[in-house]
Amino acid sequence: MGKSSDRKRKVNLDSSSSITNTTADNNDTNDDGSSLAKKHQATLSARQSSSINPWTGRSYSSRYHSILQTRLQLPVYQFQSQLLEAVASNQIVVVEGETGSGKTTQIPQFLVEVGYALPGKTIVGCTQPRRVAATSIAARVAEEMDVTLGKTVGYTIRFEDVSDSESTVLKFLTDGMLLREAMNDPLLSKYSVIVLDEAHERTLATDVLMGLLMEVLPKRKKGSKFGELKVVVMSATLDAEKFQSYFHGAPLLKVPGRTFPVEIFYTAEPERNYVEAAVRTAIQIHKCEGPGDILVFLTGEQEIEQACEEIRLGAQDMGKDAPELVVYPLYSSLPPAQQKKIFTPAPGPRVVGGPPGRKVVVSTNIAETSLTIDGIVYVIDPGFSKQKVYNPRIRVESLLVSPISRASARQRSGRAGRTRPGKCFRLYTEQSFYNDLQETTYPEILRSKMANVVLTLKKLGIDDLVHFDFMDPPAPETLMRALELLNYLGALDDEGDMTDLGRQMAELPLDPQLSKMLICSPDFNCSEEIVNIVAAMSVPQIFMRPRESAKAADEAKAQFADATSDHITLLNAYAAYEEVPIEERKQWCWDNFINDRSIASAQNVKKQLRNIMTRLDIPLVTCRGSNGKYDTNTIRMALTNAMYMQVAYLQRQGSYLTVKDNQIVYLHPSSVIDGKPQWVLFEEFALTSKNYIRTVTTTRGEWLVDMAPHYFDLDNFPECEAKDELILEYKKKLRRG
Ligand code: CDP
Ligand code: MG
Repeated sequence: MGKSSDRKRKVNLDSSSSITNTTADNNDTNDDGSSLAKKHQATLSARQSSSINPWTGRSYSSRYHSILQTRLQLPVYQFQSQLLEAVASNQIVVVEGETGSGKTTQIPQFLVEVGYALPGKTIVGCTQPRRVAATSIAARVAEEMDVTLGKTVGYTIRFEDVSDSESTVLKFLTDGMLLREAMNDPLLSKYSVIVLDEAHERTLATDVLMGLLMEVLPKRKKGSKFGELKVVVMSATLDAEKFQSYFHGAPLLKVPGRTFPVEIFYTAEPERNYVEAAVRTAIQIHKCEGPGDILVFLTGEQEIEQACEEIRLGAQDMGKDAPELVVYPLYSSLPPAQQKKIFTPAPGPRVVGGPPGRKVVVSTNIAETSLTIDGIVYVIDPGFSKQKVYNPRIRVESLLVSPISRASARQRSGRAGRTRPGKCFRLYTEQSFYNDLQETTYPEILRSKMANVVLTLKKLGIDDLVHFDFMDPPAPETLMRALELLNYLGALDDEGDMTDLGRQMAELPLDPQLSKMLICSPDFNCSEEIVNIVAAMSVPQIFMRPRESAKAADEAKAQFADATSDHITLLNAYAAYEEVPIEERKQWCWDNFINDRSIASAQNVKKQLRNIMTRLDIPLVTCRGSNGKYDTNTIRMALTNAMYMQVAYLQRQGSYLTVKDNQIVYLHPSSVIDGKPQWVLFEEFALTSKNYIRTVTTTRGEWLVDMAPHYFDLDNFPECEAKDELILEYKKKLRRG
């Protein structure tokens, strides 16, 4: 559905674009396709029969040979020369193939093996929508190639770069990170091939990358300054034709997958509690069904941990005579060592000749197409996942547990038929499958706020967003909202051009508001504090509140509480953590109900942010007095200076009304704010049964009219209680002069 008839794009990607080779498409490549592939084949066989690893100069380990045996069984191997031939003679190739056929782990390797990458010069990059997929696949591929992770094979995700400019030839990275790299290197000059993996997921970043590559490819033809750039777009079976037509009829190669029939079961009645139902079904399978591992799809960390615990308990209840059952969780914030465990084979029989044990993996959507776990025979699909939802009218983006699409349900059930016939238990009715589920999930670009993307595109020199070649263009209102926000924040001027502040903001891998907060924090003399707050906000929730010890958790949190601000409470906890000696930190976290993994990654984020701050010449200054206390007023001012578009005003009847959008909201129960201050700013709008605002800080009308008179302008302000107070504030301001 690309607007292929309408390709008048305004770009100034690079001043060196005049070097672009003007030869018509393909004229220069026709003869070398098959001969190149043959040559590649020869190099390949030579390498495969050699006992010396060309990347390390050392002999291959025995592990290498044993993995190679399983790799050679993957369907994608049948197809190696056809693929290399297509890539040799085309700039873009679309590959479609069943999940598990070996696309992600093998195709990038084929490309580096035949010489598309040269250490220190060019690399092959493979994008992934998810961080976990990027890290875990990089680790797997490093193992398959028998090289060190971070050297020959590396990965880059936000706040973590495990690659090496001298030796990395194959890099897995999130689609968002490739977009960031493009900001500083618009022609993606170090890449010789970009593999856009999981394109069917249609994440926001992948969609933007596709549009961007359409701009870049004509400038990276054969003979251009940085040489030819190849693109391989890979997708699970869905929508491949759509990609093909978007890329002007690029060749489409289908990897024939081996799949076995999967029997589908539905529930007779809707389930009231899908977590309970999933646990029950898993235990039932373990009791009644033949050997084979189980994959359960749930929506998030908490749910998954809870289900794992209950399945373990259920298996214990079956006693020692039942076959052994091991349970592994899988979600994005799980540390790599634990993520890896999902690939451990199921336990054997308890007694010689007895029935074999079983493995259960309880996972988020990661296991739907990104990661393939061998040995799965049973899939339990409750029919939900966490999805981004954006409402441009009230400018709220949230992650909501929502029903999946029929396409997702089919992918999920397909996971049961990888190695032999399987069964899928859908925990909803058949009627619901046909009548309630959408056919496909909407692309993320239609469900996201766009401020970040707009800033990125502006930085890339793409000014004409309306004619940018999006596969599915975002709603005009969403684009307008983004431009408006960036204009209010001072990132774009009234003509829509980028300001110096905007250019700096684009350098930070953060939401525009947080970027601005950090950049302006030295004006308030508290950049040390703001960088800590931003770091603590960029990681999963650091305060834990287990249901069974909620009271103790609340007491622990109270030690850090600042009655005027949840942000400063976070800062207090973080600062306290930094003072604990490293070897005692784990225990300290445990005692204080702090998530130790989260807070440790906040430290890493902080380190990265401080590096960028140094690069951007943002000074590190502190408002901490000699008594060790913060000047909390200035911190709250620094927060207000960036967050004034997310402010709510206390109403007479006790609820809050968000400014301009007029939504009735309440302080989230987790807030430590004392009483009900007149003005609050908030980080997050949680749409649940009741509309809550989360991570809240008290602010003042006086600050708002001082810092953002262009936003709080009375001429364009809806009639409301807040307006009356603002009028008073402006009068006071006049008197102050
Ligand atoms: O990308 P696609 O879905 O086509 O397949 P893949 O991710 O390349 O997976 C190919 C095979 O590698 C599957 O059988 C996976 O189970 C296996 N694999 C593995 O054993 N360990 C990993 N860490 C990753 C993949
Ligand atoms: Mg894959």
